[in-house]
Amino acid sequence: MIIKPKFRGFICTTSHPAGCAHSVQEQINYVKQQKPIQGPKKVLVIGASTGYGLASRIVATFGSGASTLGVFLEKPASNGNTATAGWYNTAAFETAATEAGYYAKSINGDAFSDQVKEKTIALIKEELGQVDLVVYSIAAPRRTHPVSGEMFTSVIKPIGDSFTSKTVDMNSNEIVDVTLEPASEQEIRSTVAVMGGEDWERWMHHLKEAGVLASGATTISYSYIGPKITYPIYKEGTIGRAKDHLYAASKEINKQIQDINGRAFVAVNKALVTQASAAIPVVPLYLMLLARVLGKKGLDENCIEQMYRLLASRLYCAEKLPSGDHLIRIDDYEMQDDVQAEVSALWEKVCSGEIDIIPDLEKYRKEFFKLFGFGFDDVQYEEDVREEVPILSIK
Ligand code: NAI
Repeated sequence: MIIKPKFRGFICTTSHPAGCAHSVQEQINYVKQQKPIQGPKKVLVIGASTGYGLASRIVATFGSGASTLGVFLEKPASNGNTATAGWYNTAAFETAATEAGYYAKSINGDAFSDQVKEKTIALIKEELGQVDLVVYSIAAPRRTHPVSGEMFTSVIKPIGDSFTSKTVDMNSNEIVDVTLEPASEQEIRSTVAVMGGEDWERWMHHLKEAGVLASGATTISYSYIGPKITYPIYKEGTIGRAKDHLYAASKEINKQIQDINGRAFVAVNKALVTQASAAIPVVPLYLMLLARVLGKKGLDENCIEQMYRLLASRLYCAEKLPSGDHLIRIDDYEMQDDVQAEVSALWEKVCSGEIDIIPDLEKYRKEFFKLFGFGFDDVQYEEDVREEVPILSIK
C-alpha cells in the first residue's frame, strides 16, 4: 500500500509506518548522543505513544537504561485504514528497545478505566516488581468516569468572556479572526474531569495500594502556562482550570506517597507541535512565531530535547529541586523576556498584516505532518508498505 497524508480538520487521518519508525529512531539517536542519566530504572508511562509521553519513554530507556511499560489508546490498522501514529511509534520503539536489550511492554486501552489500571498493576507485579518513575502524559478529548459512569468531554474555551484573536486557518493557510464563546459551568467541570488531576491521583492511589511503587518513587505530569496572548484560551481558560487541578493533585499525591519517600511534580513544558496542541485555536500561530524567535537564538527544542533536559538537568541531577514547591519549569527558554518581547512584536505585525508568515506556516505544517510519519527526506514514500505492523508485546 502507498500511504499519503490525508488532512481533516486539525488532524491527519493516515499515518506512515516507516515515517513513524524514522521519527522514533531520530529521537533515540538524539538521546544516545547525550550523556547518560543516573535516572530511573523501572518506568511506567501513561500516555506513552506520542508527544511528550513517547519522548519521556525514549529518554528513560536510552538515556537511563530503564525498563518501561507504556499505556496508551491507539488503533491498529484495519479494513484498509492505517494504524494511528502512536501505534506505529510504539511498534518501532519496542523493536528498537528490545533489540538493544531493554524491557519494553505496552498496554493499549483506556487509561481512565479501572480495568486498565488493574491490568497494568498485574503486569508490573509479574514482570517488574515495582516502578520508580510514573509519567502521566495523557491528552484526551473525553473520559468516562470509572465509578459514576459519567462521560465528560473536554473543551478548549475561554472562561467568563468571549475571546477574539487571530489564528491560522490550516485549510486555507490564511490568518483569520476567531471568536470563542465562553464555556458553561458544565463544560468547565467536564474539562477538569478529563484533563485535571483526578485520574492521575487514582493511578497513584491504586499503584501505592498494590505495593508496586518503589521506595523513593517519583511521579510527574505535564502542564503549560505560556504567554499573555494565549492566556484567555489557555491559562485562564478551561484547559488552564484543568491544569490548576492537576497541580493541586500533585500536592495531594505528594502527601499520599510521603511515607515511601515518594515525590510528585508537575513540569511546565514548552509549547510544541503535537496532536494535542494542534487542536487548540490560536496556539499554532503562536507556535510558528515562537519557533522563529527561538530558532534565531539557537534555543528551539523539540519533544525529545525537552524531555532529555527535564530528566537530566531537573529530575535526576545532583542539584536539589526546590522542596515544597513541586512545579518544575522547563519552559524557561520560551518564557525568557527577550524571547517573549520578540514574539509579541511579531504577533502585532502579523495581526496588522505587516509580515508574511508563509515560511513559518510551511515549517509548522512540516512539523505537523512529521507527527504522522510524513515528510522525512530519508523515507521512500513511493514504496509499497504493509500498513499492518504488530506491537509485539501488546496486552
Ligand atoms: P499527545 O496527543 O501527543 O499524546 C497524548 C497521549 O495520551 C497519547 O499517548 C495517547 O495515546 C494517550 N491517550 C489519550 N487518551 C487516552 C486514553 N483514554 N487512555 C490511554 N491513553 C490515552 O499529547 P502531548 O502534547 O504530548 O500532551 C501530553 C501532556 O503534555 C498533556 O498533559 C499536555 O497538556 C502536556 N503539554 C503539552 C504541551 C504541548 O505544547 N504539546 C505543552 C506543555 C504541556
